[in-house]
Amino acid sequence: MKLRIINGPNLNLLGKREPEIYGGKSFEDYFKDLQIKYNHIELSYVQSNIEGELITHIQDADTMYDGIILNAAAYTHTSVGIGDAVGAIEIPVIEVHISNTFGREEFRHQSYISKYAKGVILGFGLQSYDLAIQSFL
Ligand code: DQA
Repeated sequence: MKLRIINGPNLNLLGKREPEIYGGKSFEDYFKDLQIKYNHIELSYVQSNIEGELITHIQDADTMYDGIILNAAAYTHTSVGIGDAVGAIEIPVIEVHISNTFGREEFRHQSYISKYAKGVILGFGLQSYDLAIQSFL
């Protein structure tokens, strides 16, 4: 099993960025925990702040992985292009969010990705990624 985690803008700042919302741990550290916990799965991750790069990562993953765990961050709420990319590929995509976006500002309630996602997991902190991995097992 090969899973690709794709993180969008500002998620490189996890641990420093609004820790009351996103927690105090960097994604690099959390990713190491995931690799230890799921050592029988080939996990890889990539982060970009650039919309077009995220679209390319989604397209490229289609032939190389069994599934994508996608946190498109702020682009979730704005990007028709990322939504279209998720709709265009064959492998399942699980949309994840660290925070409960429905408990936050109104503009975070809209997602251009959910329509094409196999499922959506949000509000469990970094554990949202772990739950998404479990959905593939
Ligand atoms: C987020 C929620 C988004 O609304 C926000 O723009 C993010 C992170 C989350 O994981 O909770 O950057 O996707």
